[in-house]
Amino acid sequence: MQDTPHIPVMLNEVLENLNIKDGGVYVDGTFGNGGYTSAILDKANTKVIAFDRDETVLPRVKELKDKYGERFTFFQNCFSQILPTFQNNGIDKVNGLVLDIGVSSMQIDTPERGFSFRFDAPLSMAMGKNDLDAKEVINNFSESELSDIFYKYGEEPRSRALARRIVSLRGEKPICTTFELVGIIKNLFGEWQASKITPRIFQALRIFVNDELGELEHILSDSESLLKSGGRLVVVDFHSLEDRIVKNFIKSKTEAKQTFSRYVPIDIKNNENLSFKSVNKNAIIPSKQEVDVNPRARSAKLRVVEKL
Ligand SMILES: C[S@@+](CC[C@H](N)C(=O)[O-])C[C@H]1O[C@@H](n2cnc3c(N)ncnc32)[C@H](O)[C@@H]1O
Repeated sequence: MQDTPHIPVMLNEVLENLNIKDGGVYVDGTFGNGGYTSAILDKANTKVIAFDRDETVLPRVKELKDKYGERFTFFQNCFSQILPTFQNNGIDKVNGLVLDIGVSSMQIDTPERGFSFRFDAPLSMAMGKNDLDAKEVINNFSESELSDIFYKYGEEPRSRALARRIVSLRGEKPICTTFELVGIIKNLFGEWQASKITPRIFQALRIFVNDELGELEHILSDSESLLKSGGRLVVVDFHSLEDRIVKNFIKSKTEAKQTFSRYVPIDIKNNENLSFKSVNKNAIIPSKQEVDVNPRARSAKLRVVEKL
């Protein structure tokens, strides 16, 4: 792993909104460099159960295990597997669940992982515990599948032209590195347009390869079973596709469904769907001071709800 430290995003806001108390048990679904985990363990006499799919976090896990002993437990697994892990290990419901969605600085700044278009590296982008990598997608998926991935996860309007070019070029020779892909984008669209399109294509591949949106939908739905009454769900997300999923989930679980009928002259409010209450109406965003120190925090949004 690269030495680049991951600066925890909105750490104070996360701690405050998790409502940390002595005796509480908290789940950190995205351990990373353990920034949230260690702060939760330092703040009160708590326990933390952490998850990360990436095995390169294990040395950091060991450091925290040495420091906090039994108060800290770690599972190398995807956060969609938290609920089955709890069920298999007889772990009770918890007081809080925090998710800090996306890649860590260590992942993005380690060239050989292939997450960054700034470094030449094998096309991988696998966060760990993956069935797929970006090279496989680029070289084996059909033109329409590639175009859909670029459009859906990168919101790239010129997805079709790029998919067509990739399929034609890979017929001559497989596309194996980040710079080969960057070169194809530059060649097709020109340097200036490519500077906008390349980040979107890398984002799309990363989201698809790691099934990031599927993972997020899964854990949000499982959070209802993981949290005690009064337990908090805190999610920090970084782009509109993720934030839309979090917002819609919160809306569906905190607002009564309204049914209108032209035969019944009253609004019927159905509360059956409600399992959370809002804590903050709007998303919390990082302060200007935080963004000045850590520009990677600039697009972060923190949303929080409490289990009924
Ligand atoms: C932004 S970092 C978390 C940083 C952490 N909050 C800290 O302060 O050090 C995100 C981490 O979540 C992990 N991750 C992303 N998606 C995951 C998933 N579906 N299941 C488990 N871990 C995941 C990544 O491997 C990465 O290490």
